[in-house]
Amino acid sequence: MPRKILVTNALPYANGDIHLGHLVGYLQADIWVRFQRMRGNTVHYVCADDTHGTPVMLRAEKEGLTPEALIARVHGEHLRDFTDFGIAFDNYHSTHSEETRRYAEDIYARLQAAGLIDVRAIEQFYDPVKEMFLPDRFIKGECPKCGAADQYGDNCEVCGAAYAPIELKNPRSAVSGATPVLRASEHYFFRLSDPRAATFLRAWTRGESRPGVRRLPPEAANKMREWLGEEGDNKLSDWDISRDAPYFGFEIPDAPGKYFYVWLDAPIGYFASFRNLADKRGGIAVEDYTDAGKAAATGTEMVHFIGKDILYFHALFWPAMLEATGYRTPSQLCVNGFLTVNGAKMSKSRGTFITARSWLDQKLDPEALRYYFAGKSNGSMEDVDLNLDDMIARVNADLVGKFVNIASRCAGFIEKRFGGLLGDIDISATDAFAAAWAADDVAAAFEARDYSRALRDIMRLADIANQYVNDRKPWELARQQGKDTELHTVCSTALTLFRDLACYLKPVLPRLTMQVEAFLDVPPLDWRGEWQPLPAGHRIQTYRHLTTRIERTQIDALLEANRASLAPISAPATTTPATTTISIDDFTKVDLRVARIVEAAHVEGAEKLLRLMLDIGEAKPRQVFAGIKSAYAPETLVGRLTVMVANLAPRKMKFGLSEGMVLAASDPEGKHSGIHLLSPDNGATPGMKIK
Ligand code: 2FM
Ligand code: ZN
Repeated sequence: MPRKILVTNALPYANGDIHLGHLVGYLQADIWVRFQRMRGNTVHYVCADDTHGTPVMLRAEKEGLTPEALIARVHGEHLRDFTDFGIAFDNYHSTHSEETRRYAEDIYARLQAAGLIDVRAIEQFYDPVKEMFLPDRFIKGECPKCGAADQYGDNCEVCGAAYAPIELKNPRSAVSGATPVLRASEHYFFRLSDPRAATFLRAWTRGESRPGVRRLPPEAANKMREWLGEEGDNKLSDWDISRDAPYFGFEIPDAPGKYFYVWLDAPIGYFASFRNLADKRGGIAVEDYTDAGKAAATGTEMVHFIGKDILYFHALFWPAMLEATGYRTPSQLCVNGFLTVNGAKMSKSRGTFITARSWLDQKLDPEALRYYFAGKSNGSMEDVDLNLDDMIARVNADLVGKFVNIASRCAGFIEKRFGGLLGDIDISATDAFAAAWAADDVAAAFEARDYSRALRDIMRLADIANQYVNDRKPWELARQQGKDTELHTVCSTALTLFRDLACYLKPVLPRLTMQVEAFLDVPPLDWRGEWQPLPAGHRIQTYRHLTTRIERTQIDALLEANRASLAPISAPATTTPATTTISIDDFTKVDLRVARIVEAAHVEGAEKLLRLMLDIGEAKPRQVFAGIKSAYAPETLVGRLTVMVANLAPRKMKFGLSEGMVLAASDPEGKHSGIHLLSPDNGATPGMKIK
């Protein structure tokens, strides 16, 4: 019986770009969905933008847009990024939709009817200038444990302590800079402390999505046991599901000025996107997937792919809420770890906070990333490391050197010598290949999302296919008299093996495989039915090269394009929406000097940088790399005065040491273009201090 599966990916927030960290989880899901379909299962794969909440509201305000306009723009950007990476949702919707509103209201009404909504007043920080309650992330102050300055309201990035915002010392609003005041207001709570919730969640955690398949990865199940405690413990507290106006979201029925908290309606967005898909497409029995009774009767599955940071929401609140309201609960959570780049957290200053778009802009093949991430994914919650040199080596060796190489060495002979028609197959070679092929193991590896194991097995087969070509040397046969038949057989056999490899790689490399299907002129490859060789007499199309090697220079340019803080001109950090004040002491720490540009030159291999030599009255001029290449020709800069930060810690770059920073103006919103170097008025001389 084919399976019927609703698959979701976590909904990205509508106030930021998709970056490679996001893509880890989306690619893991997309590969799984494609694999399931190749096996003949029915999959509905949905996602949406997560549009509500304070950050989106403030971001829109900062950009001078309505929230609706902001989320419309971001929706387009996100969908384009996903599509270009081959992530093929059946529907990409928005939580700011009527479907979400209807489901949220329905779930809320059912919770109320079940006596599971409580209303009580709580005290929270309120920004008296901005006139709004402040989410924890918009309150900053000194850590109550270690005293570190400038820490968020929920935890300290220096000592790791977790606390409540009211524990912060010298708290201030990150929105207006004002000192927040405590103010009481009524909030709506989902009564998760009801003992039925923990009882259900314990059983749910132990459950299987299908026989032999755990609902949660073991690490996540352990977390759940920690959160739930022992049988009889009641460790769960009620969940605050309301927020006060001003808030971008859906107003709670009969509760003017109260809105559903973004995390209430976010997962509901899964259902909303699915409903929207069904309405557009027709023929999908939505309730079979969403109603507890119908789902049990029809055996549909609901599988959520999420990152480990949002496990709490998906393993506690969401299933508890569904269970309490007669909706179906999740069959399985597939949880991925974080992305590190070259072994470290992604970093804007190192240029490793890489956006999806910048990858494409550098003309890097999105399927190279798909392949590399797949090779690093083993179905566990471990972090995935993108090691850039390893990626170049792996992609070039496997995709170009092993896979594509088979076709590129044989296709030309079929076209030139045999009019594009295939010949007989060397069955002993395909048999040997088939014998080495542990099809069930590879399918099991894909099923368990252990793509790393699947690819290892597939590449072992590619080695066998290449060995066959190496042994039979078609290029030599082609030069020998009377070897035509043998040449024909070797090339036809190799292309059959190539087709099989393409089939196994198809979930990971959909675009490349489509090109292979077109080149071999075969119907879409799948994992059903009997194996057949490509038949003698079958006509193939002209071979065109299928993929190109990655060059280190492309990766360097990629890092350069993502390097934010190095260049003086950079987008402002988006996490803190408004400027906070600093003391005069803070300001005087910065040693600003008048500098004369004595030399300016292009930097080989750097897309945005110029190398400047700056005289600030010292014995030797200082070298600074500045991201101003797009705005200035080097020769126009020589001789002019500007302003430099003279006490910035020197920074070792690929191109040399950067010993400071020049100052320039640019529009953070990008409405006005250009980069404008600062200059002092007439009469200033190199080395003068600016204060
Ligand atoms: O953490 C996040 O990025 C959230 N926007 C994920 C939401 S997933 C689902 F619940 F909507
Ligand atoms: Zn601390």
